Amino acid sequence: MLELEKNSFSEEIENLVNQYGSDRQALLQILQAVQKKHKYVSDFAQQEIARLLNIHPVEVYSIVSFYSFLCSEPKGRNIIRLCRTISCDMAGKDKIESAVKRELGISFGETTNDGRVTLEFTNCLGMCDQGPAMLVNDRVYTHLNPEEAVNILNEVK
Ligand code: FES
Repeated sequence: MLELEKNSFSEEIENLVNQYGSDRQALLQILQAVQKKHKYVSDFAQQEIARLLNIHPVEVYSIVSFYSFLCSEPKGRNIIRLCRTISCDMAGKDKIESAVKRELGISFGETTNDGRVTLEFTNCLGMCDQGPAMLVNDRVYTHLNPEEAVNILNEVK
């Protein structure tokens, strides 16, 4: 990150601290605001937030890694989360996993080079009797077979 970018980013975080306050309770709100604007909370942002709230960077990192709606690296425009919990596992999650990996040429935990899709696993989506289940951004798809999963992937822009 260039020095100029760092300065303007620091300023942005200072503004958030002014807006939400500098005590610990403000931490989550500040992180959410950074996530919303930048789509992730970079290492630099985490350090700046820690510095301005006068807390240890590890504390900031632990919050970022705990909440699934926060992330420390840039992700794709579309997040695809395949349920890996037992009911979906038994209903054929492995076949869906192989099909989407093959189609996109990436593994779970990775993002396509064009930034279109990030693949992730998730725990139970509450659709256990309708597995395998997959969350595409905010929409849940159930009773999937590999062909349907690939078709769904090809529909996301
Ligand atoms: S086990 Fe997959 S939705 Fe519950």
